[in-house]
Amino acid sequence: MIILGIESSCDETASAVVENGRIVRSQVVASQISVHSPYGGVVPELASRRHVEAIIPVIDQAVRESGCTFDDIDAIAVTCGPGLIGSLIVGIAAAKAIAYALDKPLIPVNHLEGHIWAAFLEGEPPDEPSVCLVVSGGHTALYYVCPGEVPKLLGTTLDDAAGEAFDKVAKLLGLGYPGGIVIDRLSENGNPQAFHFPRSFLGKDSLDFSFSGIKTAVVNFVKKFGNPTDMGKERLGYRIEDLAASFQEAVVDVLVEKTTLASDLKGVTHVAVVGGVAANRRLRERFIERAVEKGWKLRLPPLSLCTDNAVMIAAAAYEVWKRQGFSRDIFSVDAVSRWY
Ligand code: KG4
Ligand code: ZN
Repeated sequence: MIILGIESSCDETASAVVENGRIVRSQVVASQISVHSPYGGVVPELASRRHVEAIIPVIDQAVRESGCTFDDIDAIAVTCGPGLIGSLIVGIAAAKAIAYALDKPLIPVNHLEGHIWAAFLEGEPPDEPSVCLVVSGGHTALYYVCPGEVPKLLGTTLDDAAGEAFDKVAKLLGLGYPGGIVIDRLSENGNPQAFHFPRSFLGKDSLDFSFSGIKTAVVNFVKKFGNPTDMGKERLGYRIEDLAASFQEAVVDVLVEKTTLASDLKGVTHVAVVGGVAANRRLRERFIERAVEKGWKLRLPPLSLCTDNAVMIAAAAYEVWKRQGFSRDIFSVDAVSRWY
């Protein structure tokens, strides 16, 4: 089955053609980084406007590069949430119009389930339950994923998402946007033990997260020791690389420990880590080490499938179709800001 995937939940306009949920025929992503970087974060109104401009050329390119025609496509899949409502609506309107004009079914996809399926595109799909950490700019959550079932939420962030903490700290330090990539790069030359930042584990068996405390700790650190945005990097009494590496290490510690707790509590050895922050070098290194210690089968998507894309939406749509078939009622498909 050939599925045309469409993704516009945040700041990437993306489309892809994927066969049987696994064979990637084409993949197009139009990034909005240059639009949002002057603001140090995504500006929802600007994101929606940019999606309106990009959505048709991006879909056209994805279909053209797939070697398929619109007639060859069996179904259209679109992200319906969670995400920014104004952004979601653009992708959904395009998907509905294509499905209606071509008389093809429309498959609504949960963005987080999309991220999860990005981990299973390579290699055999899992035949056992997995624990999956979704760690992105909008979400940090643990899911229990059983083959053929809707993923079950085990725990989520009570405040900021991990990627949001990266972005806010980078903004505070005047490092640019998206913050995760800059902090990742700077940390390579930093000492992760230089400074101690708090790790919030909440209760002993809690699978929830909280990253607002560490963000505040960095705010307090720069109040005390100086902020590069006020005094310039050279006059600081510490190395910005050390600050970046110490902050990153604290975030990664929490993510690794919570995922380990979830896998122990659920008794699983299949573990996946997905979402934009899963592109982080130190996070990948630490999860690979933990997988060796615990004997996990670890799935990490390739870097191109960590951040938002439409391959993951088409792949997840194939699973949704296997689970519940097609919904022919395309006009009932709508945007939702919060979902499982
Ligand atoms: O999955 P994604 O593209 O969008 C959401 O669904 O939110 O994730 C974007 C997030 C941003 O917060 C960005 O700073 C973070 O992923 N990110 C990273 C890295 N690359 C992107 N965080 C840490 N290290 C990276 N290498
Ligand atoms: Zn995402």
